[in-house]
Amino acid sequence: MKFSIFVLLSMISGLAGAAGPASSGMSDTLDERVKPCIICHRDADRIDRDAYFPRIAGKPAGYLYNQLRNFRDGRRYYQPMAILLENMSDEYMLEIAQYFASMPYTYPAPVAHTLSSDEIRSVETLMHSGDPKRDLPACSACHGEKLMGVQPHIAGLLGLPHAYLAAQFGGWRNGGIMRGQTPDCMSEIAKKLTQEEVNALVLWLPSQPVSGQSAEANVLTPDLVQRCRTILSEKGGAR
Ligand code: HEC
Ligand code: HEC
Repeated sequence: MKFSIFVLLSMISGLAGAAGPASSGMSDTLDERVKPCIICHRDADRIDRDAYFPRIAGKPAGYLYNQLRNFRDGRRYYQPMAILLENMSDEYMLEIAQYFASMPYTYPAPVAHTLSSDEIRSVETLMHSGDPKRDLPACSACHGEKLMGVQPHIAGLLGLPHAYLAAQFGGWRNGGIMRGQTPDCMSEIAKKLTQEEVNALVLWLPSQPVSGQSAEANVLTPDLVQRCRTILSEKGGAR
């Protein structure tokens, strides 16, 4: 297992060298640049050996771009990617993000859960009403009425596997693990939920059939835009 990661890293560093900053000429193509990425992110989400490899195809471009910057700048930690992204410019990463965002993708089939009717009710309340007493907006207020995300920075919640969802909430809630900008609206929301609520919603979401498309940015109310400004202020790359 250690050996294969080593082999992978040497392949990656060779390819990363070939795909230097964009200023070094136009001979590289996007297909070339993303070769090292595809070694790990083939298409669907999967668990291999000790690591979880999330799907990146079809996620919103601004969301992917922010994650690439998070890995490069140490706000989200996974060493093989940090090495690969170390010398990449924002511009270059934006192009890669757009490439993966427009890649066609088939969602996995819904997975049945064993939640009680009380648990289901509580999850549905979080999804569509939130809890004003805890200053928790509905998930759908930011992730879109159909929970399919809001362009360009907010990813959808359907079609993501349980293990991935559980790991993301673990990252936001556990101070020791980095998962994106902190503080930001999503890490604040994840910390306000109870562990029971998290356990239920990471089972409920994968049971929902995927339908519809991501919403446009204008569905976000000004107070939510303000609340998520660290993430939403990235206009998709231009500095
Ligand atoms: C050695 C395997 C490996 C390589 C190579 C790799 N990734 Fe990753 N990538 C991962 C793993 C594992 C994660 C999940 C890490 C985490 O969440 O802590 C991840 C996460 C991501 C995410 C965040 C996904 C999400 O939904 O939040 C993006 C975007 C991403 N990778 C893009 C890329 C791109 C683009 C490349 C090529 C430049 C690349 N990766 C190369 C393994 C890899
Ligand atoms: C105030 C707005 C807001 C609310 C409300 C909100 N989110 Fe989010 N969420 C975001 C933003 C912004 C991101 C992107 C985070 C990033 O770029 O790191 C995000 C990201 C996520 C992701 C990561 C998706 C991926 O592909 O990795 C999950 C899962 C998630 N939210 C679940 C939820 C759930 C469940 C709720 C309701 C309990 C919720 N969110 C409520 C703003 C919100």
